[in-house]
Amino acid sequence: MKLIVVDDYEALGREGARVIAEVIARKPDAAIVVATGDTPMGIYEELAARQARGQVDASRVRAFQLDEYLGVPPDDRRSLYGWMDRSFTRPLGIPEANVVRFLWQEERAAEGIADYVRAVEEAGGFDLAILGLGPNGHLGFNEPPSGPDSPTRVVDLTQESIESNAEYWGGPDVVPRRAITAGMDLILAARRILLVVSGEHKQDILRRT
Ligand code: PGA
Repeated sequence: MKLIVVDDYEALGREGARVIAEVIARKPDAAIVVATGDTPMGIYEELAARQARGQVDASRVRAFQLDEYLGVPPDDRRSLYGWMDRSFTRPLGIPEANVVRFLWQEERAAEGIADYVRAVEEAGGFDLAILGLGPNGHLGFNEPPSGPDSPTRVVDLTQESIESNAEYWGGPDVVPRRAITAGMDLILAARRILLVVSGEHKQDILRRT
C-alpha cells in the first residue's frame, strides 16, 4: 500500500489523475470502476484537461458504475449513472457501449447485477477501482460492516449514508433508501485501488480505515 499525502485539493486532482493516466497508458482499454461523490471530481476534471492537451487518451476505457440508487432513473438528478456520465464518461469521450451500468428498476435489479458481474468477469476483473470513503467508512454502498466477500447486491442504506447524501440532494427525505453496490469481492480483487479521501470531516474515519 502506498499512502500519498498532498497539500490541497488541487494537488489531489493532479496526483489522482496521474495514477489513472498511468493505468490507461499501460492498458488503454482498462476496466475501471468509477466512484461518484464530491471527492474525485477534481481528479476527473484534471484527467479531462490532460486529455484535451493530448497527454492521455481515456476514450477506450471500459467504465463500470460503482453504485446506484434503486428506483432512480438516469434522467433524475440523483442518478449516480447520470453523475458518472457528466463527470467522467462524457468528458473523456467514452462511448456508451463501453459503460457497464446497473439497472435501476427494483424488479430488474437482480438481472442487472448478474449482467454486471458477468461483464466484470469477462473483463478479467477491474484494472483500477477509484473509490471515495463515506463518512461512515462505506466503499461504494458497502455499508459497514461489509466483509471482504460481500457480493454485488442490493443494500439498505444506513441512516449515516442517508444523512451524508442528503447534502447533495437537498434533504434526507429525497435520498432513496435502497441502492445497488459493486461488491467488496470485486473491489478488493481490483489490480489497483485508488482510495481518495479529502476533508477534515474524514480525518477520523481515514485513521480507522
Ligand atoms: P464524498 O462521498 O466524496 O462526496 O465525500 C464519498 C462517499 O460517500 O463514498
